[in-house]
Amino acid sequence: MSAHDTRMHKQLAELLRKHSGQQLMANRHWRVDMALKPILRRHSIPDLNMLGDLLAGDSDADLARECVEAMINNETCFYRDQANFALLTGPVLDSMWEKRSNTKRLRIWSAACSTGQEPYSLAMHFASNPEKWAGWNIHIHATDISTSALAQARNGRYSQFEIQRGLPVMLMLKHFDQHETEWQLKEPIRRAVTFAKHNLLDAAQGAGVYDLILCRNMLMYLCDDNRKQVLGNLATALTRDGMLMLGAAETVIGQTDRFAASQEFRGFYEQALSR
Ligand SMILES: C[S@@+](CC[C@H](N)C(=O)[O-])C[C@H]1O[C@@H](n2cnc3c(N)ncnc32)[C@H](O)[C@@H]1O
Repeated sequence: MSAHDTRMHKQLAELLRKHSGQQLMANRHWRVDMALKPILRRHSIPDLNMLGDLLAGDSDADLARECVEAMINNETCFYRDQANFALLTGPVLDSMWEKRSNTKRLRIWSAACSTGQEPYSLAMHFASNPEKWAGWNIHIHATDISTSALAQARNGRYSQFEIQRGLPVMLMLKHFDQHETEWQLKEPIRRAVTFAKHNLLDAAQGAGVYDLILCRNMLMYLCDDNRKQVLGNLATALTRDGMLMLGAAETVIGQTDRFAASQEFRGFYEQALSR
């Protein structure tokens, strides 16, 4: 690697950290280089070193946003981590049902929702259990930092590859219409989710709003301080007796004093105060 490459990756890493809090690990350099190539072509920028210099100049906010979005990992799929998702839609939601049966009101936040498969998986679950949730007021709010991921999420349109990942065929046929090589999510499920742009490093709107927060496969890209900050923001947004779900490879242990691991549900976390 040349001195130029090293400087360019440092510039890109700084841009990514500033905008999203994410760290650019050396083992992701080649992926990032690939992801930025289309931007070079679109803007007629001769090479990555020149792009690094343009970004360091801090004068083109749109170019910076485009590069940050290209560098971020948006990997997701329907019903991701099936065993954990089954725990969520089974015992965890059963316990929420008990806790909220007096108000019949449930507020769910899919934080870092990427292209929408996570909140839509939940919406399809509720639609598949109409008797159990009859008369309930359920709101699924989904946010992400990426404008392009959110645009796809709002459209609810997925490629053949995306639709095949994790989604049972029965649900695909029930909730999607095929348009040539793509699949369009039908209106009732799309309407069940609201989307908004939100950087999880910023304070959430409103305290104690959500009964359940899903923040999966995002914290792992942050440094310790930013992870602590995001977990603090999530704790503030969660009700006192609410639940936080993280990705299968993530934990709050040793990261924050705001959450404690649920004794009942593996991979779920409660407000530390509720103990
Ligand atoms: C790997 S995807 C995970 C998507 C989904 N939660 C899942 O588990 O399948 C990580 C997502 O986090 C989002 N993200 C990264 N940094 C963020 C930040 N600071 N605030 C909000 N979202 C962020 C990315 O745009 C991306 O869509």
